[in-house]
Amino acid sequence: MSSDQASRLRSMAQGLRPEAPLFAARVLAITSGKGGVGKTNVVAGLALSLAQLGQRVVVMDADFGLANLDILLGLSPKYTLEHVLRGEKVLEEILLDGPMGVRIIPASSGIQELTHLDTVSEMRLVQGLQRVAETADWLLIDTAAGIHDSVLKLLMAAQEVILVTTPEPTSLVDAYAMVKVLHLREASKPVWLLVNNGQSMDEAQETVDQLQAATERFLGKQLKVLGLIPNDPHILQAVRQQRGVVDLFPRSPASLAFRALARQLLGQVSLQPDGFASFWRQLASDEPQ
Ligand SMILES: Nc1ncnc2c1ncn2[C@@H]1O[C@H](COP(=O)(O)OP(=O)(O)OP(=O)(O)O)[C@@H](O)[C@H]1O
Ligand SMILES: [Mg+2]
Repeated sequence: MSSDQASRLRSMAQGLRPEAPLFAARVLAITSGKGGVGKTNVVAGLALSLAQLGQRVVVMDADFGLANLDILLGLSPKYTLEHVLRGEKVLEEILLDGPMGVRIIPASSGIQELTHLDTVSEMRLVQGLQRVAETADWLLIDTAAGIHDSVLKLLMAAQEVILVTTPEPTSLVDAYAMVKVLHLREASKPVWLLVNNGQSMDEAQETVDQLQAATERFLGKQLKVLGLIPNDPHILQAVRQQRGVVDLFPRSPASLAFRALARQLLGQVSLQPDGFASFWRQLASDEPQ
């Protein structure tokens, strides 16, 4: 999307309610360079953990190629964003009630890309999101992987971005590429780094160090460290049962990590100076279910 389009979208949304901020909720987009690194599981885990902490959460599935957030949570949408864009439904009518009061905006596979929306469809989407965000504390957006215009458009629209990477070199390289593109578009955009699927604290810390060193050296950009989700077989078990891991295995290492991350986002805790070491100790001290 061009910056022209972005500012058109913003001014259009703002023009609807000039006195109101663009979104009442805190809007975070969850993204990655490489696919399959755990974004959708992260979105579900964070959403349920924030809800457990008393927050009102709406999640938007914006992976239009392979929408699957609803499947992950065992929901069957009758209507999707496609109906909203076509003007057949308003956004409130397609909202799904997920676990713990989390509300989900389902996408549909093969929907026309956000970059190619006409003005009327774009307005339907923005107006709907604005209304829904007025009844929420958080709007989490699950994006498709990779550097595409439609993903970047969502990242630019969000207030903050959570960049998910695994410790694998390929994921790390693609994560750097994503930060670079984002930085060139909007240098001041806060980017949180989340390391998923790490085997150990050392590995996760090394991943953070490498990415931070690269972005600071080559882009002069500081990444905020959100934390890590360890490799945890409970995640796969929960996926198979189409339940959120936080819901099904609340004491599992992944669920404890999601809760810690949610608290970090809420500003209730922050990473200690010794980085992941204390975080990992905290996880290790809790018996998984
Ligand atoms: N911390 C983890 N421990 C164990 N398995 C994990 C973990 N995180 C994710 N997985 C597994 O990795 C796979 C991919 O996860 P997910 O679908 O969330 O990735 P994604 O980034 O959303 O993928 P896509 O780019 O296709 O949207 C899933 O099978 C999930 O069970
Ligand atoms: Mg996904």
